[in-house]
Amino acid sequence: MNGLAPYTEYLENQISSLNQAYEPSNLFDPLRYFLSLGGKRMRPILTLMSGEIFNIPKEESIHAALCIELFHNFSLIHDDIMDEAPVRRGKPTVHTKWNSSVAILSGDVLFVEAYQQLKNYPDKRFPLLLKRFNETAIEVCQGQQLDMDFENLPDVSESRYIEMIRLKTSVLLGCALEFGAILGNQNEETRRNLYEFGVSLGIAFQIQDDILDLYGDPELFGKQVGGDILSNKKTLLFLKAKEIAKRTNDSRFNDLVQMPPTNDKIEFAKILFENLGAKKASLQAMNDYYDHAIGNLDQLESNGLQTGTLRSIAQFLITRKL
Ligand code: IPE
Ligand code: IPE
Ligand code: MG
Ligand code: MG
Ligand code: MG
Repeated sequence: MNGLAPYTEYLENQISSLNQAYEPSNLFDPLRYFLSLGGKRMRPILTLMSGEIFNIPKEESIHAALCIELFHNFSLIHDDIMDEAPVRRGKPTVHTKWNSSVAILSGDVLFVEAYQQLKNYPDKRFPLLLKRFNETAIEVCQGQQLDMDFENLPDVSESRYIEMIRLKTSVLLGCALEFGAILGNQNEETRRNLYEFGVSLGIAFQIQDDILDLYGDPELFGKQVGGDILSNKKTLLFLKAKEIAKRTNDSRFNDLVQMPPTNDKIEFAKILFENLGAKKASLQAMNDYYDHAIGNLDQLESNGLQTGTLRSIAQFLITRKL
């Protein structure tokens, strides 16, 4: 991860010292297991980088960064139950290795531990950190419920899809960045600018996640390929394919929808979405949001902020395979 390595290393050290000595093991083993699987740690990296812009040392921003990462890991453990996902970060998901009851409760503990991190700021920054964290956490749940509701709808507009991914994914990246500005006692405009960068980046990131879900290399991506097709997710690929098929009277899209959830369906979707041009259109949309995110950075730069590190992580994400 080139320039990101020092951040990742620092975070891994901090994360591995959490949850050392707790019983019962069926509550704490799963979350130690899950946290030890790594992941990109991009959200806490964003908090550390954002704090650095305002001269906040990493030893001070680490608690806010861990708050975000613990919440993210909680949301993934529960998301994997909701999506019936067998694999995460290249390893069995918590509910498959243990069971769903264990995954629910150990996920809940991570959520509480996320809050615990904020008690390390017992000063005037605390109320705003808490407010923004609460608002964000509720929005993530709203997005997650919309994602589930959309599975059962035949059609979803692109704007509803973008709103859903803004909630389930992007606002957390926004919050991670805003935390750095709150720690640096910045004004509302600066906080909002960083937040908006995170939201644009997050939308691009989730569109990319949808594409990788079908076209990624499972070894690198670490998740089951085609899971979104099996659960009838309304991804951008799916919505673009539907729209193009309708416009061109291509009946293969309806054939896809009728197919039972098997590997054949995944293979068929891969080819069909490529043939219809849905993959290309989704990649285009992803690139547009990444460009927009870079535009947000240009704006921050023109307001006098140093955005070099944030550019490096955006660049890393644009070409990610995992
Ligand atoms: C996965 O997030 C959930 C999405 C919003 C797509 P990441 O891809 O950041 O997961 P890890 O933490 O690196 O495993
Ligand atoms: C997950 O979206 C967003 C949250 C966990 C809040 P996905 O369901 O697409 O994430 P992955 O693909 O399982 O990582
Ligand atoms: Mg999901
Ligand atoms: Mg999922
Ligand atoms: Mg996904």
